[in-house]
Amino acid sequence: MVKLNKDYTKLDEDYLFFEIEKRAAFFVKKSLCNLGIGDITLAIPEVITEAICSATKELQEEKTLRGYGPSQGYLFLREAIQKNEYINIPITEDEIFVQNGIKNAISSLQDLFCKTSYVAVCDPTYPVYVDSNVMAGRENIEYLPCLEENGFLPTLPQKNVDLIYICSPNNPTGVAFTRKDLKKWVDFAKKQNALIFFDGAYEAFITSDDVPHSIYEIPGADEVAIEFRSFSKSAGFTGLRCSYLVLPKKLKTEDGFSIHKFYKRHIDTKYGGTSYPIQRGAERCFTEDGKKALERNLNIYRSGAKMLREGLISLDYKVFGGTHSPYIWCKTKNEMSSWDFFDLLLKKAQIIAIPGSGFGRCGEGFIRFSAFANQKTIETALNNLEKVTL
Ligand code: MLT
Repeated sequence: MVKLNKDYTKLDEDYLFFEIEKRAAFFVKKSLCNLGIGDITLAIPEVITEAICSATKELQEEKTLRGYGPSQGYLFLREAIQKNEYINIPITEDEIFVQNGIKNAISSLQDLFCKTSYVAVCDPTYPVYVDSNVMAGRENIEYLPCLEENGFLPTLPQKNVDLIYICSPNNPTGVAFTRKDLKKWVDFAKKQNALIFFDGAYEAFITSDDVPHSIYEIPGADEVAIEFRSFSKSAGFTGLRCSYLVLPKKLKTEDGFSIHKFYKRHIDTKYGGTSYPIQRGAERCFTEDGKKALERNLNIYRSGAKMLREGLISLDYKVFGGTHSPYIWCKTKNEMSSWDFFDLLLKKAQIIAIPGSGFGRCGEGFIRFSAFANQKTIETALNNLEKVTL
């Protein structure tokens, strides 16, 4: 019989969001205010579903039928991404790879690099970055504390690191890196010959010119960074699955190998591509009517984040994020632990949130609220919270 890869035994027993689901399962789902996992709640705009349906219909006819698609994604979508998202940025369509979600892409790309690579991650962080490196057997992981006193931005690593994960606007803290903050990291990576994985899943929520949407807005970033973007949060594709990553051809490993070339080799073996109708749906997001429809939904989520943020402040909670992000990072009261506060919210206020310590040790004492909820849910949650005595 086969033996288990023992690196898997080093993981927490359950994935954070599954643990939350298990705990919430004891309660009547309908009566809970779900401000937990960052999943969409607004209907996908009709203009997008129309594009998906009409692409599906093409498959009914032999003359328009498509079978296996290109592993890197259809050219029509890569060109639409390049023309709309990388205006005045020297990224070409063949440096874009269409994927079926950032989680999958970011967790598998690290397979390309040697096991002894030094990795730096923020603490707290999206758990997938750490878990995927643990599964790959990496032991050299430096956690960069993101604390209230430094505005939840990480300080530069102490050691020479090879791979750095940055998420901006950040999950879970909701804090965004300004141009100046990000430049510091690009300069550091250049000096250290390190590679940055830049997760831009929440870039559609950015509201200030001072916060870059893409790391490639920083000069020289195309020599040190791979960027990940998604249609999940911006266009409601959490169930449809479509994302992309940008991998500049300039990027080389320390031993001189082209990362682009080997990543193409990697996906040709391991990835079957994103389905044709879903890529047509994603392409529609870049049309004028697609953009308007997406903006309408994003504005609703933005107002939800504002209402939640202001509501928490008025209840005397200390909050961060929620301005360039759907996430609000909230300090527990009376120095309660994250999990105790989570339990209290669930039992006494019928609210699902995510305990900060689930994202790392430095998240202890915080809780994350998601604003991917309708106005009524947010209002109910705030009313329930007001009644809780602490
Ligand atoms: C979250 O709640 O952190 C995200 O929805 C998780 C994800 O995107 O995988």
